[in-house]
Amino acid sequence: MQEMSPTVPGFTNPKVLGLLYSVVVQFQPKTCVEIGSFMGRSASVISLALAALGGGRRLICVDLFDTKVDQNFVQLPLIREIMKYAESSKGQYCDLTRISTIGDCFDLTTERFPHMLENVTKIQCDSASDWNSGRDTFDFSYIDGDHTYEAVKRDALSVMRYANAGHCMVFDDYSTQFPGVVRFVEELKSHQA
Ligand SMILES: C[S@@+](CC[C@H](N)C(=O)[O-])C[C@H]1O[C@@H](n2cnc3c(N)ncnc32)[C@H](O)[C@@H]1O
Repeated sequence: MQEMSPTVPGFTNPKVLGLLYSVVVQFQPKTCVEIGSFMGRSASVISLALAALGGGRRLICVDLFDTKVDQNFVQLPLIREIMKYAESSKGQYCDLTRISTIGDCFDLTTERFPHMLENVTKIQCDSASDWNSGRDTFDFSYIDGDHTYEAVKRDALSVMRYANAGHCMVFDDYSTQFPGVVRFVEELKSHQA
């Protein structure tokens, strides 16, 4: 598995991004949804895989997108850390004359990667509400929003309502750091057993 690290700030690590790319290329989904897109790091990789496959594939990105990006935000140690991923584009993500929300950062990522302009739709929405007003159905999903058990369960079940047969669902952060993700994934596995 090849690690991938697009020059986009964010949380999905290069190993998981490499995995996501391979799974999408192998699975060949027509329609995908990502819950929790932040500045578009994982979305840029899913989108790249869809572009490589060709044939009018689509990715819907759902996030609150309204988190304020200001001087305090960009100085937070965690944000400074993830900004390093942007390399020479870091200045663009921290340009507060242009950027005021996470959604603005996502738009910047979309503009930087032409394949995203082709196949990504941004939905600014709480995933607890009706994020799928177009009633799309999905072949693939990446669940990376709020990591509490209740929210992971809610997000996964809401995607399942619109899942096509053979749907592939990927969860980020299945680790002891995020017990809510582990608890839900284990529950899901025991139901499928
Ligand atoms: C871990 S980050 C996503 C990281 C992203 N996938 C990446 O590769 O950088 C989690 C995201 O979930 C979003 N989020 C949290 N609660 C949400 C909710 N109720 N509805 C929609 N998005 C939510 C946050 O705004 C944040 O951008």
